[in-house]
Amino acid sequence: MSTTNLVVTMKILAIVSQKGGSGKTTLAVHLATAAAAAGYNVAVIDLDPQATATKWGDRREADTPEVVSGQAVRLPALINPAQANGADLLVLDTAPNADQIASLAARAADLVLIPCRPAKFDLEAIETTLLLVQTAHKPAYVVLNAVPPKGSIVEEATAGLVSSGAKVAPHQLTQRAAFTHAVIDGRTAQEFEPRGKAAREVDALYVWMCGLVDMPTSGRKGKVA
Ligand SMILES: Nc1ncnc2c1ncn2[C@@H]1O[C@H](COP(=O)(O)OP(=O)(O)OP(=O)(O)O)[C@@H](O)[C@H]1O
Ligand SMILES: [Mg+2]
Repeated sequence: MSTTNLVVTMKILAIVSQKGGSGKTTLAVHLATAAAAAGYNVAVIDLDPQATATKWGDRREADTPEVVSGQAVRLPALINPAQANGADLLVLDTAPNADQIASLAARAADLVLIPCRPAKFDLEAIETTLLLVQTAHKPAYVVLNAVPPKGSIVEEATAGLVSSGAKVAPHQLTQRAAFTHAVIDGRTAQEFEPRGKAAREVDALYVWMCGLVDMPTSGRKGKVA
């Protein structure tokens, strides 16, 4: 991996949710690609035996972000070489219903994001993930995902989550076809429809995430996401 004068301490972002299909892999590949497009050296570490992110990487034409498949119990063996090779950001994608994977990822992380659909079953189930993440003592935020484009559900879900002690990201991803279509050939919504609404939502989340981990939004090549 290339290095320039910009000094960036490698950051680790864990995407965690015990609930299946909440949007972990969607969030992981979109934020990783946003950071790579901004000029950072980024790797997605896919800790999910389903290997969804890895398969996305296999379908992808571009060679960034790097996608590495591995087991959570081997995290140090995955993290240390990445750091030695000049990685700026590692995005850990995790499996649903897998306490140990989620815990190990959260403990290794600087920031934990918990995607959650704003639906009753998902909001009910999030308690387990919140408790698990608390034990890691890392900054953790729920990111509402696949929200309907209209209505008051974001406000309602946010109020419910905050009242149960969760921190909620000020940006959401809406339910949009661009998120599902883009990944078919290993792309992201930013690449599929650069001026689309989905791309703008990812940019907003990326910029917010950079602020939380103290990473300039513009990476080594001086690009802005
Ligand atoms: N904002 C969105 N808009 C439209 N479709 C979405 C959105 N987020 C996720 N999806 C779709 O929902 C499905 C589940 O998303 P994803 O695979 O990211 O969830 P996951 O939490 O990684 O699932 P798993 O728990 O199985 O690993 C996928 O088909 C994905 O394309
Ligand atoms: Mg997944």
